[in-house]
Amino acid sequence: MKKILMISLIIIMLAAVYGYTMMRGGMMGMMHGARGGDVQVDLSGPRPPENERTISAGRWVYERRCAVCHGVKGDGNGPRANELYSRPRDFTRGLYKFRSTPTGSLPADEDIYLSISRGIKGTGMMPWNRLRKDDRWAVTYYLKTFSERFEEEDVDPSIVVPDLNITGSEMISSGREIYEKAKCWECHGRQGNGDGPKAAELKDNWGDLIPPRKFSYESFKRGSEMNDIFLTVATGLDGTPMASYGDGMPYEDIAAMAAYVNFLAKLNPSPQSGMMGMTSDEHTGMMISNGMHGGMMRQGMMK
Ligand code: HEC
Ligand code: HEC
Repeated sequence: MKKILMISLIIIMLAAVYGYTMMRGGMMGMMHGARGGDVQVDLSGPRPPENERTISAGRWVYERRCAVCHGVKGDGNGPRANELYSRPRDFTRGLYKFRSTPTGSLPADEDIYLSISRGIKGTGMMPWNRLRKDDRWAVTYYLKTFSERFEEEDVDPSIVVPDLNITGSEMISSGREIYEKAKCWECHGRQGNGDGPKAAELKDNWGDLIPPRKFSYESFKRGSEMNDIFLTVATGLDGTPMASYGDGMPYEDIAAMAAYVNFLAKLNPSPQSGMMGMTSDEHTGMMISNGMHGGMMRQGMMK
């Protein structure tokens, strides 16, 4: 009898320690995991060669870390995908939003690596800067195997962002004019509140509703630096109604518009977000990525 009691006690203690470690792991992840978009990424330094060995190392990382959302087949239908408001990317079409390459082109490897390292702000896609650099390159190469486009097409050269020293008030007022003329407001609204006349009906190529961004400092998926805004306007977010303006518009105009968007973003309050200033998708993404059960969320421990 005493023995059984002892054994049960030990089991309970082990379970408690396990629970605590898991919880702490999650918490620590939260503390360390800076939010997407703001993470500084160093692209210099050696990278592993893009060969079969590296790709199979990438597959190993993918299946353990990414498939839970993006799906084993890369189709964006992982077992936890439905818990997120912004759906995980389907990699099988080779359509990437966050590129430095012109619209219609495949992304550069560096673009994929940057999205993985920085995460995508406000969404379930955490910054994976805790993965070793080699693993991040390996998983970059593995993602490319989901779409035949990478075998069939060349990647267009990246757009080089000009020197954007553009804070002057002249720049902002010419940016305002271009914003008006280019009809950005039809979707984003005149004050950049995401409430233009077309806002409610926009869908992405996968048929999901996609609201235009409300401009505020905390809300840019790619990041809130001027370079990030410039690249979004110059290259478009392929697969979404956010088209590219890189073809018809001189770079100075895009730069002025980036300055204006940045100006609006500073005026607009940041979106209401919950614990530690995160959106609910960021919470969920963090829980999933740290391997914690989503049940905690549903039980109301974390809102
Ligand atoms: C918790 C779910 C989740 C996990 C885990 C996850 N992602 Fe994501 N990922 C997302 C979501 C959601 C998006 C789309 C965000 C958006 O555009 O609104 C995304 C987008 C991306 C993109 C951007 C592609 C583009 O269009 O430019 C890349 C690249 C990516 N993920 C790679 C990865 C890799 C590699 C891993 C594993 C190391 C991973 N993701 C793990 C949810 C996840
Ligand atoms: C037809 C509607 C539409 C028009 C017109 C439009 N956008 Fe967008 N824009 C969108 C949508 C939808 C998104 C959000 C896409 C997403 O969440 O992936 C977006 C996102 C953005 C973002 C946010 C990128 C990020 O990192 O989160 C910026 C900046 C932006 N648009 C600027 C502009 C500017 C400047 C113009 C005018 C030149 C413009 N948009 C015109 C629909 C539009």
